[in-house]
Amino acid sequence: MSIQASTAPPAVELRGIWKRFPGVIANHDVNLVVGRGTIHAIVGENGSGKSTLMNTLYGMHRPDEGTITVDGTIRTFKSPTEAIAVGIGMVHQHFMLADNLTVLENIILGAEPTQGWRLDQDAARATIAELGETYGITIDVDQLTEELGVGERQRVEILKVLYRGAKILILDEPTAVLVPQEVEELFGNLRRLVDDGVTIIFIDHKLDEVLQISDDITVIRAGTTVATVKPADVDRRILGELMVGSELPTPDTESSTVTAQLELVVKNCSAVSAGRTILDDVSLSIHRGEILGVAGIEGNGQLELVEAILGLQAISGGVIELGGVDLTSLSVRERRHAGIGYIPFDRQRDGLLLAAPLWENMVLGYDDTDRYISGPWVSVQKARSVTDAAIERFGVKTPGNSVPAFALSGGNQQKLIFAREMVAEPKLLIAAHPTRGVDIGAQAAIWDELREARKAGLAVLLISADLDELIGLSDSLLVMFRGKITAALDPAEATPEQLGMFMTGEGQEVK
Ligand SMILES: Nc1ncnc2c1ncn2[C@@H]1O[C@H](COP(=O)(O)OP(=O)(O)OP(=O)(O)O)[C@@H](O)[C@H]1O
Ligand SMILES: [Mg+2]
Repeated sequence: MSIQASTAPPAVELRGIWKRFPGVIANHDVNLVVGRGTIHAIVGENGSGKSTLMNTLYGMHRPDEGTITVDGTIRTFKSPTEAIAVGIGMVHQHFMLADNLTVLENIILGAEPTQGWRLDQDAARATIAELGETYGITIDVDQLTEELGVGERQRVEILKVLYRGAKILILDEPTAVLVPQEVEELFGNLRRLVDDGVTIIFIDHKLDEVLQISDDITVIRAGTTVATVKPADVDRRILGELMVGSELPTPDTESSTVTAQLELVVKNCSAVSAGRTILDDVSLSIHRGEILGVAGIEGNGQLELVEAILGLQAISGGVIELGGVDLTSLSVRERRHAGIGYIPFDRQRDGLLLAAPLWENMVLGYDDTDRYISGPWVSVQKARSVTDAAIERFGVKTPGNSVPAFALSGGNQQKLIFAREMVAEPKLLIAAHPTRGVDIGAQAAIWDELREARKAGLAVLLISADLDELIGLSDSLLVMFRGKITAALDPAEATPEQLGMFMTGEGQEVK
């Protein structure tokens, strides 16, 4: 047996993979070997071809050239169904669960167990319970998916893949949406899976995490694999240089630009939904030139706070003012016109028209502003030229302004939304995870843009799961827990660990 073990083929071997899209070579001559029962990280800049490569391995794309070998056998997959059949499962960068189904229904969707003619839900329940127990992945299967936070959604996606018998698990940026505690939990689950012989391939922009959990790290640059290294042999700087060939930035606030002029004032706001208090007497203010960071585990009222400011969530009491003007009776559109920019929590659902060209996405929400209007209509020419300038200024990687938004890589979609909101020169920018899924170089560029705009008087409400970003960029910091502001901290002194304590409701209030 030992001879067999030592000659066991790798779980995955990709040789000379090429994949072209109109105007783009997404992958060229990619070579990748992933050992069985290992955790293999894939890192690289936005648009470098990571998702494309994984989608190809998962049977969503056919490679133009090259071979895919799984457990020693060459495979050509016509669809994910065929990849699943040989034990490959994938959790995508953007989750794909149906909101209106329960967790159980989502997990078994497309792989329903039957007993004769009847759907055998009991069998499914038993299997899921067993999987959950083995790998420590806990979830209430009768909950409606709509009600789940991102961390829970991810658990459902992973269970769904395991339920189909996956032995090779591909995770595309699994930690991008998680707070540190959830990342630790995920990594614990991944270790248990690997101990059980499962092979894991995951994409991640956070190099500390990559160094912490992987057995091997492959760097992709401009569509091709440039190196595979062991975490012990490299550090953040070396990895960063392999990816982009430049130094790593840090999110320093630099000197304060906070003015005495109030931009946003939220006073004693409360909101109730389905009999539950979702905002509990929330008060905060942001001055011109100030970045206010709000920390919290998703589901503790941050989204509701943002929606209350935007007019998407009715408040049962309290006042919201922008530049001294009461917003309470204004519509969403009127509030946006009053100068509120918004980078939404979910870029694909709320930030983009995926099938529409980039120039249309640029205009989205701003179609009646002078910037785009010519006579009575939106001028396509104006829209295209503003889009081209934004693509250039914000480094959006694309062959042109007429490609549909879905053809951009995840990080480049994020950059486009950031560009759209900044180009509109808001007074208040509500930025939910502004650098989620963007690579280290682009992250630095976004931080620079925010700092520059702040110098010019922009007020920013920053929500981020990246605690280093939150601490580094913010002039002041609040923590939300169960719909309430539970702590106010000085970012100059706060640590991620301390923030983490407050976020889970364990910390003492510091004022
Ligand atoms: N369906 C598609 N149609 C056209 N072009 C595409 C499509 N999918 C990806 N591309 C292009 O292929 C290139 C690689 O994209 P990919 O999504 O693989 O990048 P990535 O490394 O995953 O980036 P990110 O870190 O931003 O998610 C990009 O230039 C992208 O615009
Ligand atoms: Mg991607």
